Amino acid sequence: MQHDEQVRLMKELIAHLDAGTNVDAGGLMPQSTSTYTDAGQAAREWREWFRGMPHCVGMSGDLAEPGAFLTTEDLGTPMLATRDTEGVFRAFVNSCRHRGALVETEARGTRRRFTCPFHAWSYDASGDLAGMPKPDQFGDIDAECTSLVPLPAEERHGLLFVHPDPDGTIDLDELLGAWFDGEFSTWHFDRLVPINHDAYDTACNWKLAMDTFGETYHFASLHKDTLFNSFHGNVQCYADDGHNHRMILCRRDIDEMRDRPEHEWDITVAGLPVYWLFPNTIIMPFRFGCFLVRAYPTPGDPGRHVSRVDFYMKRELLEHPGPEQAEINDVIANIAQGFSEIIRDEDYVMAESQQRAANAGALDRIVFGRNEPALHHYHQTYARKLGRPVPTIVDAVTP
Ligand code: FES
Ligand SMILES: [Fe+2]
Repeated sequence: MQHDEQVRLMKELIAHLDAGTNVDAGGLMPQSTSTYTDAGQAAREWREWFRGMPHCVGMSGDLAEPGAFLTTEDLGTPMLATRDTEGVFRAFVNSCRHRGALVETEARGTRRRFTCPFHAWSYDASGDLAGMPKPDQFGDIDAECTSLVPLPAEERHGLLFVHPDPDGTIDLDELLGAWFDGEFSTWHFDRLVPINHDAYDTACNWKLAMDTFGETYHFASLHKDTLFNSFHGNVQCYADDGHNHRMILCRRDIDEMRDRPEHEWDITVAGLPVYWLFPNTIIMPFRFGCFLVRAYPTPGDPGRHVSRVDFYMKRELLEHPGPEQAEINDVIANIAQGFSEIIRDEDYVMAESQQRAANAGALDRIVFGRNEPALHHYHQTYARKLGRPVPTIVDAVTP
């Protein structure tokens, strides 16, 4: 993020702090609880936004060297993503061209060859068949019929995008938009090293998981013993662009930084940028690295999803070990683990309780406040994409 933008955002946060205000969406927004339980809507979300769109599957550092790979079935299609010998990011259907078994069963690692455990056909990192037992006895088969089926894959600004449909297309200009595209280019995500990967299978709709990241109104209550120690609650900056939005949360370090000369101001110390990429990806760059959070529906069950919380660290913090390196490593390990555990033990406990109420039909509707504009935008955005009634903003909620 350009420094003048950092200063502008910090001034906005400081103004809110001094005035005791927060961003204002201009009204409240009731939303039907059926959005978390409706099986028909869930089926469309899965088909149109998860099976039918390119997704961020990780960061460049996940595939740091030739032969590095990761696998996922988060988008339905078994997927194998690799860095080939030329350093090019590639993705394939992780299914052997002999009889369809998973070729790679590990979640991540590095290999020269990917060998199918069934009959030992082996593939290189470019997806080409590198060998098979008894080729003379197997029979004649064209090379085009033996390579792993490629999936559309593109790497930009240190983010890895894959479309789960071999016939799908990736349009990152459209997916990111010009604003995110420009701002992502300043964060150097390509220099991050993966440190920690957590996955939480949670009994709530994937959108309830996303909702927990959409405001800081809850910090003083739900996170009073954790995040509230380092963040001001109910203070943030907010802006949206098409189907994406960005929040800036307010760290308590701003109280000290505001007295320093502006050229020393740093938004990753004074705040926490939170980028939400439609439909399910949250990127939070901060002083030591970045968190990547993604929520994936469980097909066939609107009340369940899996969240992935990945922590990446700045490479320069690893490459220049000094006397204080052990201390830095401790701090970073605590941040990585602590943040994931807060999400699991605090936010997602709430999300599961919300889901139970929604499943029971206990409430027809819930309400997003004026101070929760990201949730207005998010719920309006997906309703628009589905062609469903778009929740409206009202001056007051009445019976
Ligand atoms: S299914 Fe993979 S080698 Fe036979
Ligand atoms: Fe939270």
